[in-house]
This record gives sequence, C-alpha cells and structure tokens, in this order.
Amino acid sequence: MERIIIFDTTLRDGEQSPGVSLNVEEKLQIGRQLEKLGVDVLEAGFPVASPGDFEGVRRLARELRGLQVTALARARKADIDTAWEAIREGADPRIHTFLATSDIHLKYKLKKNRDEALEMAREAVAYAARFTKNIEFSAEDASRSDLDYLCRVFEAVIDAGATTVNFPDTVGYAIPHDFGRMIRYVIEHTPNIHKAVVSVHCHNDLGLATANALSAVSNGARQVECTVNGIGERAGNTAMEEVVMSVRTRQDLMPYATSIDTRHIMATSRLVSMLTGMVVQPNKAIVGANAFAHESGIHQDGVLKERTTYEIIDPRDIGLSEGRLVLGKHSGRHAVKVKLEELGYRLSDEEIDRVFVRFKALADRKKEVYPEDLAALVAEEILRIPDRYRLKYLHVAGGSGIRPTATVAVEVDGEEVSHACMGAGPIDAAFRAVATLVRTESRLLKFTVNSISGGTDAQGEVAVRLEEAGHVVTGHGADPDIITASVRAYLNALNRLEHVKANSPDKASGKMCK
Ligand code: KIV
Ligand code: ZN
Repeated sequence: MERIIIFDTTLRDGEQSPGVSLNVEEKLQIGRQLEKLGVDVLEAGFPVASPGDFEGVRRLARELRGLQVTALARARKADIDTAWEAIREGADPRIHTFLATSDIHLKYKLKKNRDEALEMAREAVAYAARFTKNIEFSAEDASRSDLDYLCRVFEAVIDAGATTVNFPDTVGYAIPHDFGRMIRYVIEHTPNIHKAVVSVHCHNDLGLATANALSAVSNGARQVECTVNGIGERAGNTAMEEVVMSVRTRQDLMPYATSIDTRHIMATSRLVSMLTGMVVQPNKAIVGANAFAHESGIHQDGVLKERTTYEIIDPRDIGLSEGRLVLGKHSGRHAVKVKLEELGYRLSDEEIDRVFVRFKALADRKKEVYPEDLAALVAEEILRIPDRYRLKYLHVAGGSGIRPTATVAVEVDGEEVSHACMGAGPIDAAFRAVATLVRTESRLLKFTVNSISGGTDAQGEVAVRLEEAGHVVTGHGADPDIITASVRAYLNALNRLEHVKANSPDKASGKMCK
C-alpha cells in the first residue's frame, strides 16, 4: 500500500500560534510524544529566529532517533548554516528551506522578479545540498502563484537537490477541488517531479485545511504537513488527527497507509493543549470533548444496540478508554505510574512522586479521577516553565449580600508577599490582588472556564489570555475549586509573559521572518 508521509509542524508552525511560547523542556516532551505517535518528519523550529529556538531544535535532533528532525530556513546561507548546525546530530536530518513564489509576495515582500526569485531558490537548495541529501523546498504562497512559474521553480530546485517539494496554501485561500487540480497540474507539468516527494501544507483560514490536504493526496501528494489539534498561524494548519483518521476511516476512497499509531492521538492532543495553552474546542473533530458524546436519546439507543449506527470511529482507536473512570482515592502509586505511561508521559521517579502527591490530594476531593484530570496535574506540576510567581495561599469570601474579597499570598522570586482586595466577584477580587502583588501592566484579553469532566466535583480548567506590549500569552490552571484554578491560570500566564519578554527581541524577529 502506498504511504502518506506525516510531517508534523506543531513545534514550528504550531508554535507560531498567537500566545504560544514553549520552552525547551516543553518542546522535548511534545517531541517524545510525537515520536511515540509515529510521525515521519518532525519540524522542530526555526533555529535562526532565536537562541531558544536553536537550542530546542538541537536538543530534539540529538534525542529523537526514530524520526527525521527538520528545521526551517529562509533561502539564505546564514539561515541554512544555522539550521544545519541545529539538526546535524539528528538521525536523518532534513533542511527545510522556503521562498515565496506568488507575484504578490515577490513584488511587495521580496521585491524580486520571478527570475531572480527562481535563482535564489535554486542557490539555496544547492547550498543546502553541501550538507545533506535530505532537502525540502517550500514555495511559500504556492496556491496564489502562477502554476507554470511554480513548475519552473520546482524543476530548478529538484535539479539542485531538493528531495521534497512542498506546495503551501499559506493564506488558506484554496478550495478543495481546485487545490487538487493545482497539485495534479504541477505533477503533470514538472518534468523531474518523479525525483521528489510532493508535499502540501495548508492553512485553515476558510476552515478547509484538512479538506484541501486530502484533495491533494487524492491528486498525487504523498506528504502532508500538519499540526496536532490543527494549531498554527491565524486559524491554524491541517489537523494531523483529522488527516490520519480520515485516511484510516475512508480506505475505500483513500487506500493509503500512515505510520501513525492512532492509539496515542488523544494523549498527544491533551499534551499539546496543556503545554501550549490552546484549548481544544469541545466540538473539534476526533479530539474534542464531544467528539464521541451522544446527546440525543435516539443516538444513544442506537449506539447501545450497535456502536456503528452512529459512530464511524471506535473511540479506542484514538486511545479513549471505554470505561473512562481510571483512578480513585484507593489507587496506589503504581496504578498512577501505569496510567501516566499510557497517557504518554515519561516521568522520572521523583516526578511521579510529585504527581502522586497531587493526585492523592485531588482524589480526596474528587471521587473519580479521569485521564484528563491526570494530564492537567502533570501540566501543573511538571511540564511548565520555571515559575517566577507561585501561589502560596488563597482565601476568598463571597456570596449574596456581601462584597467579594480575596486574600492572596504569592511567592515572587522566592519571597512571599500577600495582599487583599475587593472586586465585582471573587475571581475579580483575586485577580486584582495578584495584579497588585506582581505589579503587572498586562491586560486581560480572555478568560474561559471549562469543566474537565462531568459532575459537580469536576476540575474546572481555566484559560487566561493576557497582553502586554504586543506580547500575547495564554495560561492554564485546573482545580476542583474554580477560583483557585483561575488564579493558577492567571499566574501561569504571568509566568509565560515573563518568559516571552525575556526572549522577546529574538522571538519577535523569528515570527516576523516569514
Ligand atoms: O505557510 C507556509 O507557507 C509555511 C511555509 C514556511 C512552509 O509555513
Ligand atoms: Zn504555514
């Protein structure tokens, strides 16, 4: 059976989502999980963008041996040198260089004519070929480029050594049947195309990223670039889980194989959501909380009689256990360890001890502990950036007829400080107290509360989005007490803001590069 190569760019295009900033440890956690999931190629970052990006790519390339690690580089020698330096110790490293090919980008962004740009692309690939035979060239904004010109560019870069040519729908402008036609055209009109793998990279501005990628596959593309949960620039990228499960579910129309072990999809989705702070919408295909929830009585009755009446995917295929209750207050350390491993976390003994202490505290307050509760604990306890601010104490008074008040103690750089405030509600009061303690100038853009699982004892999962001086970050917090969860989320966002500000000049230039 023919194979579709899964190229994951969660750590590069996904990390370009507004407000997302992962540190090296967080990137490694996601990278290990993607290796376990079985992706073929992992785009680890854009090394020239910042020392942090460079270090993240280098650590991933060194550590992950079961997949190809690639790094992005503009069609410039300095970028390619830096990318190669970051990935050279990888198992089968790939240089991914790109240049725009649409007239609109050539005229306004690159200020080059078509021939000059073609020459730049050819030279960049020829330069990369000094380091490796594994080279991908992306024609940025391909879907708005003149197709005959694009064929000339692809022919030149393949002659120069490109082994993968990527056709991005950079601005999410394509419509599936037309996108498929473009892919077929390029395959039929590029004389040496058989020497390269044709790849696609779609953005979701019109909500068509997965449909476009699948249409491309039906027309000859054999690599799909995608991200977990579809995160990425603006409206995001093609969602990996959607492509993989579509191909698997509709083998009658798409008789292709992928290397993905689909049983790890849910764990990967949760990990990425937790670490990036990008909440998965409940109705998201495949990995949303409601993706397998049957609300109507007719549907429930049908599924009970025969699952396939209303379910096209067996939830176990993506790693959702049938009996969702996993642990309770009588569960021991071993059970927690095994469940963590099932969820895809590889923790040291000391880390498991820390999670176990938090688990026991949670299980005392909450009868049933679900996988998503455990994932939230890991994110809270282990997988976060070094905290400058930590919550030490929170007391709130609220109710009808009294003015809500919060007293908060926070450790700031190791020193405990406390403050009390009144507010419109207890969360408002607690946030005011925190803001005074850490002297933040950030603006709250968004505040959302979700219930992690069902029941009134469910953990509340809070996401807080903050803005300061052009930096936008999202923080997460979880606790059965939603005021505590909110303060944790607020502090997490403030810690992320500190992290982003510390890396800001490089980070900003990295995001501006494209
Ligand atoms: O969207 C895009 O064009 C990209 C390329 C760099 C592949 O992300
Ligand atoms: Zn992109």
